Amino acid sequence: MQIIVSEGYEELCKAAAKVVAKTINSKPNAVLGLATGSTPLALYKELIRMHKEDGLDFSQVTTFNLDEYVGLPKTHYQSYHYFMHENLFKHINVPQQNIYIPSGTTDNYEAFCDWYERRIKECGGVDLQVLGIGSDGHIAFNEPSSSLGSRTRIKTLARQTIQDNARFFDKIQDVPIYAITMGVGTILEARTIILLASGKGKAPAIAGAIEGPVTSMNTASALQLHPDTIFFLDRDAASELKMIDYYLWIQEKAPSFPRGN
Ligand code: F6R
Repeated sequence: MQIIVSEGYEELCKAAAKVVAKTINSKPNAVLGLATGSTPLALYKELIRMHKEDGLDFSQVTTFNLDEYVGLPKTHYQSYHYFMHENLFKHINVPQQNIYIPSGTTDNYEAFCDWYERRIKECGGVDLQVLGIGSDGHIAFNEPSSSLGSRTRIKTLARQTIQDNARFFDKIQDVPIYAITMGVGTILEARTIILLASGKGKAPAIAGAIEGPVTSMNTASALQLHPDTIFFLDRDAASELKMIDYYLWIQEKAPSFPRGN
């Protein structure tokens, strides 16, 4: 694992955007795994800037989103379809037919989930997966007790997640209870993973993910098993890490030669 600590949120998103840009520049037809929520907003803003000002080209890129609420049509202002189009896709040149987001309205979820898994493989697998983290340690909507080998499926959201996400809806009763989500096993197959977190509210989940045992009680801890994961954190999100001095020391003394994770 690599742990990069930045002073603030904007800075950590800019650092993460450089990794996304590097992936696309070295492989123009890269497959990106994308997340929604508040955390990647400044990352997407920076990617849009890079597209407009530096010519970052998404014309051969394929994207797979992590999750979608069950029951929300694509046009709903809180659907992840809507979120992705408003905050990223409509501002860049990724072809419409290369965009994959789980369906929240299919009439056959099982068949859809199988197809989604198959489609990721047919496209060559995810080169770079972007993740946020829930305050309960979830990645995508893999809530505590999710199998660390899980695949794309329907999950029931934890009460904590419903409460956390109520800020986006008019009232808490409007937050969907179910989501369709890539599994932990699906996510772990990405070649490189970047997880972004900011704010004190994420500090316990981050401490559990990086320094806790690998446990389904914090599904982000499964990333300890992944050979190429980078955590982009701000000071607040990193504030409960016991080994923070060591991580800052590594960052300061980063060797110019390639090293293991
Ligand atoms: C969203 C997703 C979730 C969020 C997490 C954090 O696609 O997969 O795991 O990353 O709930 O959400 P924010 O960033 O809003 O705190």
